[in-house]
Amino acid sequence: MANVFAKKPIVIERGKGALVWDINGKEYVDCTSSYGVALLGHSHPKIVKAVCEQANRLISCHAGFYNEKRTEFLQKLTSITPKGLDKAFLSNSGAESVECAIKLARKFSSKPEIIAVMGAFHGKTMGALSATWDKRYREPFQPLVPEIKHVPPDNLDKAREAITDRTAAFLIEPIRGEGGIRVPPDGYLQGLRELCNEKKILLIFDEVQTGFGRTGRLFASQHWGVVPDIMCLAKSLAGGLPLGVTVAKDDIMSKFKVGDHSTTYSGSPLVCAAASSAIDVLLEEHLVDRAATLGTYFKTKLSGLQNKHKAVKEVRGLGLMLGIEVRFDVLHTVLKTAERGVLILDAGRNVLRFLPPLVIEKEQIDKAVSVVDCVLEEEENERASSSPTN
Ligand SMILES: Cc1ncc(COP(=O)(O)O)c(C=O)c1O
Repeated sequence: MANVFAKKPIVIERGKGALVWDINGKEYVDCTSSYGVALLGHSHPKIVKAVCEQANRLISCHAGFYNEKRTEFLQKLTSITPKGLDKAFLSNSGAESVECAIKLARKFSSKPEIIAVMGAFHGKTMGALSATWDKRYREPFQPLVPEIKHVPPDNLDKAREAITDRTAAFLIEPIRGEGGIRVPPDGYLQGLRELCNEKKILLIFDEVQTGFGRTGRLFASQHWGVVPDIMCLAKSLAGGLPLGVTVAKDDIMSKFKVGDHSTTYSGSPLVCAAASSAIDVLLEEHLVDRAATLGTYFKTKLSGLQNKHKAVKEVRGLGLMLGIEVRFDVLHTVLKTAERGVLILDAGRNVLRFLPPLVIEKEQIDKAVSVVDCVLEEEENERASSSPTN
């Protein structure tokens, strides 16, 4: 396999709920959900059943033919998406859902320019990468897609200044994930919506990480009551199977004509069966409310660490999308917590990120917090003993 992933020295063999086990039988509380994918928990029995049944019936069916599982999923999906967003293109990943949104915005408006924000992460295919901010990801692959530019986040004046008569759309994550779990100030997304309306440009929300209940609302944009024109979804949508979805208002999606966009795997029955079942699980098990309640519990506990450890600068996030910003590089910290049986993610250089499955139990949260507490203490002691004043 290409050497593009920062590997951890763990071979994961199986998972159940918020727990995974390695090949030696060691148990871990998984606060990564495989980067937000295992939102319903690992190997949820209803997803397993849906996948097995569908695998026995029909695995692939090109979108050039109709398929009932695909229709069933699309009906359920558009019954939960924000009002008006009821036409979907199905792909296989987050980056693809963003690629589709960029192409759609250009086709709809007949204009080329896309505005994104500094600190954004939208994926690593060429279009999505052009909207991603981090220069480590971008620079080796220049030239990127032209006319995609960045403005400072949370600043409506800068957004207004950047819009020209060539602008097709403003693309933004409602809460920046890879960029360090950054929640916008109240009023910003509403202001952006008004600005896009005034300037007649499209507003695209990338809810690949925040969508599907992660933040304690079905979609993070609902915290602020803002409906975009196009929304990108992926990660957890199909209970762990690869699925990207770009949803848009009918008049926008209808600008795509036959042949304008496609992917061979679009809407495979297997993935649609999993995704249809995933929506059932999310609603039947009231997981969105659970994310809100447990998110408050988790965040309160993490905030307790801020009072205890000088190294903690800030605790941020909504629902079960949480981050702790610390005063040092966290790459080693995530390895140390893994050694103690808790998997967490980094976000940028100095943010510890928690994206646990929404089915995580309180005791598992307690364990995660107590391990992070110990590791922070260790990190602080190590730094104190190696400081030149000692
Ligand atoms: C907000 C956001 N958009 C897009 C992507 C890209 O998704 P994928 O890795 O499935 O291509 C990610 C992945 O982390 C993401 O967090």
